[in-house]
Amino acid sequence: MIDLAALRAATPGLDSGQVFLDSAGSSLPPTVVTDTVVAHLRREAEVGGYRAANERLDDLAAVKSAIAALIGATPDTIALSDSATRSWADFAYSVPMRPGDRILISGADYASNAIAALQHARAAGATVEHIPSDATGRLDTAALAAMLDERVRLVSLQHAPTNGGLVNPVAEATRIAKAAGALVLLDACQSIGQLPIDVAALGVDALSATGRKWLRGPRGTGFLYVRSELAQTMEPSRLDLHSAQWMSPGEYRLAPDATRFEFWECDVAARLGLGAAVEYLLALGPDAVYAAVADRAAYLRKTLPDLPGVTVRDLGTEYSGIVSFTVDGLDPVQVRDRLAEHAVTVTVSHASSTLLDMTGRGLPAVVRASPHCFVSPADLDRFVAALAEISH
Ligand SMILES: Cc1ncc(COP(=O)(O)O)c(C=O)c1O
Repeated sequence: MIDLAALRAATPGLDSGQVFLDSAGSSLPPTVVTDTVVAHLRREAEVGGYRAANERLDDLAAVKSAIAALIGATPDTIALSDSATRSWADFAYSVPMRPGDRILISGADYASNAIAALQHARAAGATVEHIPSDATGRLDTAALAAMLDERVRLVSLQHAPTNGGLVNPVAEATRIAKAAGALVLLDACQSIGQLPIDVAALGVDALSATGRKWLRGPRGTGFLYVRSELAQTMEPSRLDLHSAQWMSPGEYRLAPDATRFEFWECDVAARLGLGAAVEYLLALGPDAVYAAVADRAAYLRKTLPDLPGVTVRDLGTEYSGIVSFTVDGLDPVQVRDRLAEHAVTVTVSHASSTLLDMTGRGLPAVVRASPHCFVSPADLDRFVAALAEISH
């Protein structure tokens, strides 16, 4: 069980009295995260960025250890980056493509992934194809099995999409894809920090994630997990003097682990903040946090359909902490803005972010409420009351 009062006291963004339901966008960090970032920026201003970073080498190494502990990996399989998109692209563009090769993406795939897949495929004369969803909206694993052949180089899976509560059958889809020899890249941007992730149990080759959402880290942070064997053998599409070493005028050597997917320059303060966020989550107990998020989302999924004109749009059979909905006669942007007048923060997810799914359902946009564990039952009821006033 989480200590809600302590959690809220350690979340200064709640001091204003707002109801914050946008952890799927960019969450409210705990005090320790902001303090860590600000303290490092101050230190950089005092002694310069290089000396400040050198003073924190152990803490920087601990960032990877904390992430590894959270996802059941080892630190040498983690590459830190500035976003989930960067991490996804770093891996995907490094998968060699030849004419006739195929990349499979899923119905809920995020726009940035799809765009990068299209560009990478096009440059090589390869194709990008869409794995259908089943009747519940989950990735259809039977359809995936039927699409696979030796030309499929990469399968992109979406753990939890940006636009609703769907959770995909990742372990099963991964088993099927890998049996056919494809590499599996999992977008865990919306699941890290709110759903259990064990990379060994999931079996994925790589996983991309962001810091600012359910992990409650700073903006401009993210990471890539790369399965150990690949982290030691795969050649990234871009290198620098951190990911590789210049050995002689015509020769370089790749870093021995997932570091080969990192560039040297980075926002050290933000990275330390990400480490603080993950350590905070580990100290709270990830399972307790995941259960609290699930409870809050389940309450909204149960309550919102009772409001006139409100339709919950979540797909699937098991759910993440994202609750998507529409209100009859109101544009989702209007709903967001009117809720803001009641000091309730939600966001809108537009079709352009998840084109395949949203156009398939004829939805131009949905409102997205994403309560983290620090949201109180009273907050949820304030949101429901405000929505009732708007939707009647
Ligand atoms: C499912 C999903 N994947 C990827 C991203 C991109 O994350 P980032 O902005 O950290 O690159 C998002 C962002 O909303 C997302 O929801």
